[in-house]
Amino acid sequence: MSRREKKEGAERPIPWRALGVILAVGVIANLLVWFWPREEQATQAFPTYPAEVVAHGEEIYRANCATCHGPAGQGDPVAGVPALNGSMHAWHHGDAQIAGFLRSGVGRMPAVGAGWSDQEITAVTAFVKQWWDAEQRAYQAQVSQANP
Ligand code: HEC
Repeated sequence: MSRREKKEGAERPIPWRALGVILAVGVIANLLVWFWPREEQATQAFPTYPAEVVAHGEEIYRANCATCHGPAGQGDPVAGVPALNGSMHAWHHGDAQIAGFLRSGVGRMPAVGAGWSDQEITAVTAFVKQWWDAEQRAYQAQVSQANP
């Protein structure tokens, strides 16, 4: 770099205001991209169930699952029963796999739903899904589609 170039560069004022505006626009654009479309996708990307289905599911849950998994799906760490709410990984299982757990049992869980109708399985699963957030439900819906 020659002496002259250095001098010119030093004399040109740094356009702080323009840089500030560019930075602010960039930050705002990032925030919009980050929050806006994700929320839209999340609310559209999973099935919802009629209130009466969820209510039926709650009855089934209270009578058949709550003793082990807890009234709020919080599980029982002492007894080694996993939480069904969003705190553990219940939401990683697709609908068909959950139906299999209920009808045939899994590990130390007995086949509590042996002989249950599809409606009963769907209802209790719909109730459990109430504890998952939109992203967890969207993920679980994708898994369910991939493994019908
Ligand atoms: C006798 C206690 C008991 C009852 C009743 C019971 N579960 Fe479980 N459940 C368990 C245990 C223990 C596990 C962990 C099984 C394993 O991996 O060994 C489990 C696992 C599960 C899982 C998989 C969780 C995960 O994170 O992988 C789901 C889903 C589930 N139960 C749903 C239900 C539902 C819905 C009901 C009622 C219809 C129910 N369970 C009733 C004890 C029970």
